[in-house]
Amino acid sequence: MEKNRYLTFALGKGRLANKTMETFEKIGITCQEIQDKKTRKLIFVNEELKMRFFLAKGPDVPTYVEYGAADIGIVGRDTILQERRNIYEVLDLGFGACRMCVCGRAEAKELLRHHELIRVATKYPQIAKDYFYNKKHQTVEIIKLNGSIELAPIVGLSEVIVDIVETGSTLKENGLEVLEEICPLSARMVVNQVSMKMENERISKLIQDLKSVL
Ligand code: PRP
Repeated sequence: MEKNRYLTFALGKGRLANKTMETFEKIGITCQEIQDKKTRKLIFVNEELKMRFFLAKGPDVPTYVEYGAADIGIVGRDTILQERRNIYEVLDLGFGACRMCVCGRAEAKELLRHHELIRVATKYPQIAKDYFYNKKHQTVEIIKLNGSIELAPIVGLSEVIVDIVETGSTLKENGLEVLEEICPLSARMVVNQVSMKMENERISKLIQDLKSVL
């Protein structure tokens, strides 16, 4: 590959991007500009390392990587499972650890056990579909929401939800609980399939360096 080609990173906005840059700093990859909270800039460059970083909405990160607009993405496993893009998942960064779960009131356990036709509210319809249809072989009605998913069983929109549980306090404060665990989640590094071949040396070194500090 051309020597002066920039390696482009798409980072999920927010906590994920901050944790990513903290980890990158440990292996000598820095980017001062990105730390500036007031900046309206969308893309940040480290000329010396020939690297570019941009911040995107989490669910868009796999899209940028699949199309090669970014060589590398850092994104939660929840988003990878939901978006199902053609990308390589190469590294578990460990941070952002949480679980994807089926949650609801304690009484809803029985509905799950008897494979009742229930409603499932979620921000992750693909993950819910995979779990109920392919793994549990239970027919359910999936309702897509965009946030505050815990509201759904409280106001009677659905019997259960499929959502991320980190500390469990949102559930607890709303009289809900984990009924079934779907899978563990954390931040992952994903790579464009062509970049993995064309930039193999740089990307492999990056993975090795990251492994040594994780
Ligand atoms: C996430 C998730 C839960 C909550 C879990 O929501 O959807 O609601 O965090 O965290 P806890 O187990 O530590 O309480 P987020 O804050 O991202 O907002 P959202 O509900 O609007 O998606």
